Amino acid sequence: MKVFVTGGAGYIGSHTLVQLLTAGHEVCVFDNYCNSSPVALARVRQLTNRDMRVVEADICDADALTRGVTDFAPDAVIHFAGLKAVGESNDIPLRYYQTNVSGTMNLLGAMDAAGCRRIVFSSSATVYGEAHYLPFDENHPIAPTNPYGRTKAMAEGVIADWARATPDASAVLLRYFNPVGAHESGRIGEDPDGIPNNLMPFIAQVAIGRREKLAIFGDDYDTRDGTGERDYIHVVDLADAHLAALGYSGAAQGCEAINIGTGTGITVRELVAAYERTCGHPIPVEIGPRRPGDVASSYAATKKATNSLGWCAKFGIEDMCASSWRWQSGNPDGFGDAPHSS
Ligand code: NAD
Ligand code: UFG
Repeated sequence: MKVFVTGGAGYIGSHTLVQLLTAGHEVCVFDNYCNSSPVALARVRQLTNRDMRVVEADICDADALTRGVTDFAPDAVIHFAGLKAVGESNDIPLRYYQTNVSGTMNLLGAMDAAGCRRIVFSSSATVYGEAHYLPFDENHPIAPTNPYGRTKAMAEGVIADWARATPDASAVLLRYFNPVGAHESGRIGEDPDGIPNNLMPFIAQVAIGRREKLAIFGDDYDTRDGTGERDYIHVVDLADAHLAALGYSGAAQGCEAINIGTGTGITVRELVAAYERTCGHPIPVEIGPRRPGDVASSYAATKKATNSLGWCAKFGIEDMCASSWRWQSGNPDGFGDAPHSS
């Protein structure tokens, strides 16, 4: 199958490329590298011994996007490109709406021009907002609590309306829980710019000595040990979910939202302990105040993913930590320390 992948150089995109190319699909990546490096694509080529087409451009440039999609004439699109930092979305909301909502509209327009009717979209569990009940199932009310989450909820709505209005269209909205870990080779992984916003890359940077200690954002939540509980999902499992969603989109019409998680919650302290077992030394922590907007617990109902996609997570927390550590210790400065061709 020919698959057009926006944001393919990013963290989840690069891992999905490995699975797509390994499965024999033909790929075109569309990325402006605003939060990624061409080194990631070079490493994907090395890992798979396969080549891919690459267009360096912005999804906000509707003409470039339409040219990219029509030239490649894909059977399906996977749409990763977007901005994802919750805090930053409070400071520059219009850039978030422009990239995540207008960029998605540009993409659907480009797909119309090219006659492509299948899309798999990177959504987020953040669209649910405060939990009315747990686990979150796909019928849980949508009430995001920050601009980033609202852009994802809006993009979901735009895609659903497009699918309703487009004969034979098929859209799968994958609501990711907390992607972590790296490819088993340790050659690609998450390379956050500056201070990591998320827990796992922060722990990894403390473990390698790039940061002194982890601040735990509150230990007075109503959870097993008082720290926040999340549904961490191995990025390679998540990548496989995209291949399953592509298969599903070939057989189903309409628009479906599907959670992608393991169904199991892990607390901050449990994740730190698992990482300590992996790296073999203690990870210094200090208890700080709660982070505004954080919830106590979030984990997925996974029945729909199993029933619709025939997919379920294979990797556990030990695999997530081991692969993260292999990536972090082999690439202490992420992709930054490597020349572009390596
Ligand atoms: P990432 O930042 O590593 O990857 C995003 C990619 O999109 C990058 O390569 C970036 O350069 C590219 N991009 C951004 N804006 C662009 C633009 N205007 N034009 C062209 N390319 C652009 O992020 P990721 O973690 O791989 O996330 C991928 C998608 O999954 C995002 O849409 C994100 O919102 C969503 N998501 C991520 C998480 C997570 O925790 N990582 C959770 C839920 C949903
Ligand atoms: N945490 C700390 N210290 C840190 C970072 C995080 O204690 O330095 C805690 C948080 O308070 C929370 C847990 O670790 O309890 C996980 O926090 P993350 O920031 O890693 O993840 P979130 O669940 O807050 O949010 C992430 C993404 C969102 C996405 C959501 C669901 O940042 O964009 O997962 O997919 F929407």
